[in-house]
Amino acid sequence: MSFKKRHPEYLQRIERVLDTTLPAATLQPTRLHKAMRYSVLGGGKRIRPLLVYATGEALGVATDLLDAPAAAIEMMHAFSLVHDDLPAMDDDDLRRGQPTTHRAFDEATAILAADALQPLAFQILAQSAALRPYPLTQTKLIGLLAEACGSKGMTGGQTMDVATEGQQPDPETLEHIYRLKTGCLLRASVLSAALCPPGTDTNTIDSLERFIDATGLAFQIRDDILDIEGTTEQIGKQQGADSIHNKITYPALLGLEKAKARAEELRLTALNELDKLALPTDGLRWLADFIVMRTT
Ligand code: IPE
Ligand code: IPE
Ligand code: MG
Ligand code: MG
Ligand code: MG
Repeated sequence: MSFKKRHPEYLQRIERVLDTTLPAATLQPTRLHKAMRYSVLGGGKRIRPLLVYATGEALGVATDLLDAPAAAIEMMHAFSLVHDDLPAMDDDDLRRGQPTTHRAFDEATAILAADALQPLAFQILAQSAALRPYPLTQTKLIGLLAEACGSKGMTGGQTMDVATEGQQPDPETLEHIYRLKTGCLLRASVLSAALCPPGTDTNTIDSLERFIDATGLAFQIRDDILDIEGTTEQIGKQQGADSIHNKITYPALLGLEKAKARAEELRLTALNELDKLALPTDGLRWLADFIVMRTT
């Protein structure tokens, strides 16, 4: 059965894991816990968890071991989105077709909900029952995620993104920002699965890194394209928000056609890396195609 047909099972699985891992909305302080649940549940393509599961499939990792890294990375992603939408950053009102967390609650609650989602990600990895027999893997997973979202990863990229607002960086600088702000968490998704038993050889890890480096960059370029070409209904975000807020994006800098050509070039690079692996990579292939051709 193709990954296209199988992936809804993974989506159900990750929704269940996220739902049961998040603190109950009835638990004190209820406003904080409601905001955390609001920020994570009820929408989202779950691309990062799907990348964890698809890489795990390719490498023969038991699915039970993948739940913790998949959920941890999605919590971290949700944290990054809540902060990204704040007035001090992108100042957006709509996310996943609903008011952004600071709009649905208030700014202080949104900041605090994101503050709590970040350590929850590490807690999930540290306390996973499935990973308990593999303490070295656990430590590596925690380190990988910390690095991916820290100052040399997502947070560094977001800092540069805000700093270049209204400027005209060269394309190499823009790609560097994209690799950090978006690419790092996607990279961590793939590498997390590779860190799990039974273990992966260096050549395979190198190919997977090149695969996700290209795919991660393409993901953000496609996000920029959809801000222009998508509808608010399709993307669940305010269409045109980037230009309204004077954000410098790939299509704003180089034009839509060049942006599309670059995304396609990156998709082919990514698929070419998978061709080198004699592994069942159909899930990763499907995800790379989806990431570049998606309309949501
Ligand atoms: C949006 O990520 C933020 C970017 C890195 C471009 P997604 O497009 O994965 O957002 P959700 O999780 O599906 O809402
Ligand atoms: C966000 O990039 C990257 C993050 C680390 C959250 P964008 O600012 O383009 O993401 P959207 O368009 O708001 O989802
Ligand atoms: Mg942003
Ligand atoms: Mg944004
Ligand atoms: Mg965007």
